[in-house]
Amino acid sequence: MSVFSTSRLMVVFAVGWLCGSGAVQGQVPRKQEAIPQGPPSGSAKADPIRISAGSPSIRRITADHSLSLPNWCSAGPYARDGEPLFTSMTRKEPSYKLYHNAYWHAHKWYALVPPDAMLRDGCQPGVPSSAACAARGSDADGSRVNSADGGSVDGLRSSPLEEGLSVNCALINLPVSNISAFTDNMRAGFLPGTTLLVDFPFPAFPDNLGHWAEIMFTTYSVLADGAWRNNTVGNRGRYVDRILLPNLRKEMNDWFKEILAVAASPGVRRGGPPVPSIIDHADLEAFPKLSWLIIENLLVVQDRYTHPERKTGFIGADHGDLWRYDGCARYVNRAWEIGFSDPSFAAAFRAAIYKRAGLPYVPGWEPGTPPPAPVSGSPRVMTLLLAHEDYPPLVNWEDVQATMHKVASAAGLVVRTVTLSTDAPFASHLDTYARSSVLVARHGPLLATASLMAPGSTVFELLPYKWEWLGISKLYYNMTRSTGDLHHFAWRPTDHRLAHYDHENYTRYHTWTPEECSARECLMVHGRAGLTVNLTEFETLLRAKLPDVLAGKGVEELREPWPKAL
Ligand SMILES: *[C@@H]1O[C@H](CO)[C@@H](O)[C@H](O)[C@H]1NC(C)=O
Ligand SMILES: *[C@@H]1O[C@H](CO)[C@@H](O)[C@H](O)[C@H]1NC(C)=O
Ligand SMILES: *[C@@H]1O[C@H](CO)[C@@H](O)[C@H](O)[C@H]1NC(C)=O
Ligand SMILES: *[C@@H]1O[C@H](CO)[C@@H](O)[C@H](O)[C@H]1NC(C)=O
Ligand SMILES: *[C@@H]1O[C@H](CO)[C@@H](O)[C@H](O)[C@H]1NC(C)=O
Repeated sequence: MSVFSTSRLMVVFAVGWLCGSGAVQGQVPRKQEAIPQGPPSGSAKADPIRISAGSPSIRRITADHSLSLPNWCSAGPYARDGEPLFTSMTRKEPSYKLYHNAYWHAHKWYALVPPDAMLRDGCQPGVPSSAACAARGSDADGSRVNSADGGSVDGLRSSPLEEGLSVNCALINLPVSNISAFTDNMRAGFLPGTTLLVDFPFPAFPDNLGHWAEIMFTTYSVLADGAWRNNTVGNRGRYVDRILLPNLRKEMNDWFKEILAVAASPGVRRGGPPVPSIIDHADLEAFPKLSWLIIENLLVVQDRYTHPERKTGFIGADHGDLWRYDGCARYVNRAWEIGFSDPSFAAAFRAAIYKRAGLPYVPGWEPGTPPPAPVSGSPRVMTLLLAHEDYPPLVNWEDVQATMHKVASAAGLVVRTVTLSTDAPFASHLDTYARSSVLVARHGPLLATASLMAPGSTVFELLPYKWEWLGISKLYYNMTRSTGDLHHFAWRPTDHRLAHYDHENYTRYHTWTPEECSARECLMVHGRAGLTVNLTEFETLLRAKLPDVLAGKGVEELREPWPKAL
């Protein structure tokens, strides 16, 4: 069950827009895994909740409540007594933002704001581009950030609150005039320090490795860069204490799990657990319905799908691109670059994940010299990677294989064919890629591991006919490009006879332009259609690139324009 294109498209319609609602990874909940689950160190679990002038009855209820809290949150507040717990947000970089005092309650996210911070004349919350409003926001917000409170930041200024918290989570502004009265009587659990929010864009299809990779590589880059630490508040915000997965379960696909472990690693406390504890959808479901969760620092890494104002349903120059068919809209920011923000992060990620998987150290490559064989002493390998059960099909894969043999022997490469499914152990995926100097595969989630190939390696990607939706055909290309040391070429059919639709009704789509083919059915039809490779063109591409690749020519020197979807 690893149908990239079909899954990716169907999910757009299956996903609920509210966090925690809609489809969730439907795996059988297993016994909790060996992920550290204890309360954060130094948490004041035993402390009674702050009660101001509460009546005895309130005190009793609150005490009972603290017993019913799960052990992953603290009953003791992280803030100093009397400090107002208004919500604020800091966005210093396009790649991430931090919410301070974020509230989660009954499956929704809330920002507690002073009444005067609600819509001011001519200002809209969450519009960072509006300088006047941003300036006014900062003035008004300055006092809301507890930067002076022994925090790690001096003079931290908050930004206008973005209501598009993350792709599937909206932030509801709740004006509160007396914040201490409001929070003192609140049944609450606290998450001190920093919590990393990971909102999977397509939760109904959790086997979509490509979309996991696109958010994880950015997450790793943000955490490794470290500038986010300076935007946190409180004494213990400088490390990621836990990961919050509002729409996935911690019993996730092995590929997801391994990638997440390494992606989060630059954020963890030295000497602490190697992987932060995970609060998942099931944990949130079980959280007492009348209680609130208050999060000191909520770190949200940017993806291609989150609009700061959570705008959906419009198409306009300022809104980017929205996919709005069948009552569903999906915003995609095409300007947002996925992948590692710097090649050094790609190299560090690769080194960490090879080590974790027990593979020998990543062979280095000096452009200008032939890349070393991934397994020293063995011939270089050229792999044809096929999806489990060959679906969606690569119709003439045996001919593709024969063509590879023909070209490879001249180049001193050994050809092999490997079949993988998306739920195969991560180690199988990584091993397949780590051993391949050259890899040929149809576009699909199995290509998500391509960015982890050894430096100087090469991907030849076979794109389906008319497969283009807001730059989606470049999903894997953009990721490998961000590493700076991988070659990535693609072939794509321009003749509809090379696409094999699974019903004759669908042949009508073959004349549609890529722009016209942005609705669900057309994209799904093309995504799952069988693909025949034009062997002449494929062989020409291999012969044009392989000798130079194997001679060690530079990645930019050999780069080709991406083939157009005609
Ligand atoms: C806020 O509420 C508390 C009671 O919880 C009260 O003591 C305090 O005076 C109130 N503050 C304002 C400004 O009304
Ligand atoms: C954090 O702030 C300090 C002081 O302003 C600065 O020296 C340091 O470089 C900053 N760290 C990062 C990672 O930006
Ligand atoms: C890849 O990057 C190009 C810009 O180079 C962009 O147009 C396209 O939308 C991106 N696609 C993805 C999936 O990131
Ligand atoms: C194909 O089109 C015909 C006529 O419009 C329709 O009756 C039939 O249900 C369609 N079949 C599929 C599989 O879409
Ligand atoms: C394959 O590509 C070649 C060169 O572009 C073209 O002449 C030939 O007609 C194509 N064959 C098929 C079956 O599309």
